[in-house]
Amino acid sequence: MAMLRAVRGMSDVPPERTPAWRRVERAFQETAARFGYQEIRFPMLERTELFRRSIGDATDIVEKEMYTFEDRNGDSLSLRPEGTAGCARAAEQLGLLHQRRVRLWYQGPMFRHERPQKGRYRQFQQFGAEAFGMSGPDVDAELVQLAAALWERLDVAGALTLVINNVGGAEDRRRYGAALSEYFMSRAGELDEEARERARGNPVRLLDSKDPAVIEVAKDAPKLEDHVGEESRRHYREWKAMLRALGIAFEESPQLVRGLDYYNCGVHEWVTDALGAQNAVCGGGRYDGLTAQLGGRPTPAAGFAVGVERLVLLAEALGKEPPARAADVAVLGGEGAEALAMAARLRRRRPDLRVVADLGGGKLSSRIRRALESGARAAVVLERADDGPAVRIRAVDDASRSVTVAPGEAPEALAAFLGAPDA
Ligand code: HAM
Repeated sequence: MAMLRAVRGMSDVPPERTPAWRRVERAFQETAARFGYQEIRFPMLERTELFRRSIGDATDIVEKEMYTFEDRNGDSLSLRPEGTAGCARAAEQLGLLHQRRVRLWYQGPMFRHERPQKGRYRQFQQFGAEAFGMSGPDVDAELVQLAAALWERLDVAGALTLVINNVGGAEDRRRYGAALSEYFMSRAGELDEEARERARGNPVRLLDSKDPAVIEVAKDAPKLEDHVGEESRRHYREWKAMLRALGIAFEESPQLVRGLDYYNCGVHEWVTDALGAQNAVCGGGRYDGLTAQLGGRPTPAAGFAVGVERLVLLAEALGKEPPARAADVAVLGGEGAEALAMAARLRRRRPDLRVVADLGGGKLSSRIRRALESGARAAVVLERADDGPAVRIRAVDDASRSVTVAPGEAPEALAAFLGAPDA
């Protein structure tokens, strides 16, 4: 019988890579907390309607990439393709948005039926930060500052570039969409049926089309920046001034339109050259219209989400991943529960160490090899000398470096043998 395998695009994280994951998870959680963001958790499954109304019916995500099904009641549900919609829904439903400023973070799996490749998966993890109730550009600057602090902490800042753009207010975008639609339809003869369909439904998407005919026509298309109103321009100018004042470098790109409809005004992405085609590690922006679109109170809001796989890949590509060791100390030998009891004593003396009891017996040489493979530096070997039990503490990779002590002295002797705890 063929061995069952994981669903395409949904990966396991093997134990040697989980330390790299934990490192970035801890860095995000602690950095978000230091900025006053609080964790929120919300379901992975929501009504399909939530994503249609927020991300937008005519986006790739909603049109082609959602895992949607009917549950036993006949309700249409979807696995969340991103976190902002669910976060905003939860914050409103929990009553957090009533005349309050809230800073939230979340982390968890998202699902998109995209074509899998390096850095692009069908189940992937995001860290998200969302700030509600603050309408000024200072919160946009704070969000960028938070991401920048995370890159600093993970020592990947040098590999990331911040790209920003102003996508205008909702009304600006509507006018721009109409102008774009009119333009593309005026050149309908040069487009195929699919592109014409787009031109009618969601013409903005034609701007990042890969179809050579569309690219040719798009060259002379109206520009979004010519349709952005004064209020958005001012907000965006002030945001840029704040980023400069904070010493955060950025590039501006009119091509940065983001694939979700809820954005307005300032949007951003952090991109890298180190990962190949899937170069966006983090993306976000303002979405002042979202809560009202979901039927809640109008609430100014902004946020971003980090693709955790991509951040881990980046840290690995830059050689920043921690060693994937299972153990610092291996305890071997002894009878009955002796090894387990000794391991417990050692853990009590040195809570910073991972102490693994080598169970199941076998030759000393193969047990030492196992200890070496586990990453342990020291082996604590329980022996039986002529005058009673003894404990030999030795370097796993060098039998000549060893001390032999009475069992009661082993915890102190091990501590001395290993020196001070790692910082
Ligand atoms: P997004 O740009 O669609 O934005 O996704 C954010 C990040 O998630 C991307 O920059 C990328 O690193 C990662 N990502 C997206 N799709 C995949 C995939 N298929 N495989 C691996 N990683 C992926 C959002 O999701 C918005 N909710 C961000 C936001 C928060 N805007 C405001 N607040």
